[in-house]
Amino acid sequence: MSTPTPNSAEARDVMFHLHSQTNAQAHAANGPLIMERGEGIHVFDSQGKRYVEAMAGLWCTSLGFSEARLKRAAAEAYDKFGFYHTFNHKTPAATIDLAEKLVALSPIPQAQAYFATSGSEATETMVKLAWVYHTVRGKPGKRKIISRDRGFHGSTIVAASMCGMPRMHREFGLPLPGFLHTLCPDAYHGMQPGEDEAAFVIRLAATLEELILREGADTIAAFIAEPINAGGGIIVPPAGYFPAIEAVLRRHDILVLGDEVVCGFGRTGEMWGSQTVGMQPDMVALAKGISSSYFPISAVILGKPIQDALAEMNKGGEIFGHGFTNSGHPVGVAVALETIRIYEEMDVVPHVRAMGARLRAGLDALAAQSRIVGQVRGAGLMIGVELVAEPASRTAFDPALKIGARFDAEALRNGLVIRAMGDTIGLCPPLIIDAAGVDEILDLFGRTLASVEAGLAQPHTAAAE
Ligand SMILES: Cc1ncc(COP(=O)(O)O)c(C=O)c1O
Repeated sequence: MSTPTPNSAEARDVMFHLHSQTNAQAHAANGPLIMERGEGIHVFDSQGKRYVEAMAGLWCTSLGFSEARLKRAAAEAYDKFGFYHTFNHKTPAATIDLAEKLVALSPIPQAQAYFATSGSEATETMVKLAWVYHTVRGKPGKRKIISRDRGFHGSTIVAASMCGMPRMHREFGLPLPGFLHTLCPDAYHGMQPGEDEAAFVIRLAATLEELILREGADTIAAFIAEPINAGGGIIVPPAGYFPAIEAVLRRHDILVLGDEVVCGFGRTGEMWGSQTVGMQPDMVALAKGISSSYFPISAVILGKPIQDALAEMNKGGEIFGHGFTNSGHPVGVAVALETIRIYEEMDVVPHVRAMGARLRAGLDALAAQSRIVGQVRGAGLMIGVELVAEPASRTAFDPALKIGARFDAEALRNGLVIRAMGDTIGLCPPLIIDAAGVDEILDLFGRTLASVEAGLAQPHTAAAE
């Protein structure tokens, strides 16, 4: 990436295209990285340079970038019709099949599936359903939502309010009133001197309960959490965290909302992230891996008590006043059904465990040789490598050094796409990755780490980002 030449695609991008999660000035100075096409776990830029896409795009292309079966499934669905909807008792036939399939796979008994198109819509839908649930039970005052620092739940106004990241709030005057945040279960940095993980968990549960009591349990509807925080830096909660937290929530009649947008569909080495971390949600939001993001589709899986509440709420003949035009879109549904078929045929869970173990072992070996790796953490094929100034004391780098950004830029030079979350380097490759793909990531990661380490003495320049 360098200053765009006039009239180039790069210059037109700078002029006409507002990017998500991008700094406008840096973009104007350096231009975009234009990606042209994909092949398995690799993508190719407009200059023909090949990269291992070790982030599966945005934690999403579990089946890689060129799965022909998904293309065919979409084409066959388009042969029937380009669109149909799920309002007013109507539905495409395939939407029923996907709902049934998701319910069968679901961690929630006697569930139903509700469809939307993005993760944000799915997390927001869960909030509305939580409000219905409590209202019907005579507790309409239960409206507030608790989420966690460093959680990510989307970009629409309620979803962004639930994020625990200042960058999702700063420009917009968020969070909305009634959206509260509690501690992130980051044991690596969060444990106090003398505290072990068990004591840390007890403190997290106690802090949550203090918040609930301060606000009033009769004002709180639900708690939302990713089983393993993705965008917050791949934070795996310590053992016993969710059972301890859920005991507090149940005591105060607060629903548990699982955000499986990243963790779902095998990513963490179980079908659901909630299984990996021992979480028992009342509802879950699914997206990304549901269709390997070949079509924008998301879903909420809701348990029986929520369905009963909706039925009760509308027993006078009123309708459920919620819905997105593209909910249950027949093409997205066909792509999702085929995606799930492929997960089943490839036996995705043991495959992810084996490839995840190989990746983890290789990263642990690199960490053992490095002066700047503080922690390698994660589950399945969702791994974070945190770079720190002094591993022994867990001392972070001075943020001005922008170590994560340096790593990102160097990785791109080496043909590796990672995600720098502060100084944590995220790896979340397509689940179809094989041993050779894992070894390619390790080779490129090792080279990148070595040159970042070697360059630590030199000052960082914005042009290097
Ligand atoms: C855990 C989680 N939840 C929700 C979302 C929001 O999904 P979308 O961008 O499709 O609205 C994301 C997006 O990255 C996510 O990582």
